[in-house]
Amino acid sequence: MVWLLCAILAFIIVILMMPIIFAGEIKATKDRDPAARNNVEILLLYPGLHAVICYRITHWLWKRRIPFFPRWLSQTARFFTGIEIHPGASIGKGLFIDHGMGVVIGETTIVGDNVTLFQGVTLGGTGKETGKRHPTMGNNIVVGAGAKVLGNIQIGENSYIGANAVVLKDTPPNTTIVGVPGRITKQEGRKLDLLMDHIHVLDPVSQNLRDLHKRVQDLENMNNRGNQESEK
Ligand SMILES: CC(C)(COP(=O)(O)OP(=O)(O)OC[C@H]1O[C@@H](n2cnc3c(N)ncnc32)[C@H](O)[C@@H]1OP(=O)(O)O)[C@@H](O)C(=O)NCCC(=O)NCCS
Repeated sequence: MVWLLCAILAFIIVILMMPIIFAGEIKATKDRDPAARNNVEILLLYPGLHAVICYRITHWLWKRRIPFFPRWLSQTARFFTGIEIHPGASIGKGLFIDHGMGVVIGETTIVGDNVTLFQGVTLGGTGKETGKRHPTMGNNIVVGAGAKVLGNIQIGENSYIGANAVVLKDTPPNTTIVGVPGRITKQEGRKLDLLMDHIHVLDPVSQNLRDLHKRVQDLENMNNRGNQESEK
């Protein structure tokens, strides 16, 4: 009987401590979701927060090489939240998962600080790799609903990945990536692709080739003008 009372007391203390232990995650939710009203609502109604809390526990157990239990716990959390975070993933501070359903974060994923994921996001493998096979995400990244980031690739910090994009290659910091396969449309706040449609999206390499082509044309024009003037 005493043991039961102690267990209930410990449980209540842990619940009361939640707002302190997970202050970073609660603040992230408040800052990034205009619909979030107060801490109680956030603690009770946000499956993204529940999944992250559960992940912190499973990751702690995973690092101590506890067998089976961390994965069982993460699958249980998936059952209730629709969000699957492998206990082996490394996740920084202030992760905010909005709506949540269908989010998958693979075992060797590394997520920086202040990252936002919407529903349906996969940070996964291509299915062809072993070892480090999931993405490394920098700080301050927003990944839109349904986007897939696949393989052992690096996504630079302060980036936006558009809804439903499929990103398969490294991307530099401060970029916006949209489409399938993902293409950079904005870098350092500058539009790279003025003729963008959902299929014919340029990438930085073709942009550089275009610039080079234009320079060669300019040089040829200059040369022609010089020849004409010398003929006169
Ligand atoms: C990509 C995104 C972050 C916007 O980033 P941004 O840097 O402000 O980019 P812009 O809005 O200037 O768009 C740049 C270009 O990409 C296009 N674009 C934007 N989002 C796109 C997407 N998801 N897929 C394809 N193209 C997209 C725009 O039409 C624009 O094209 P244009 O240059 O021909 O006009 C945003 O559109 C997005 O997808 N956010 C995800 C939000 C989300 O998932 N919400 C779910 C809430 S439940």
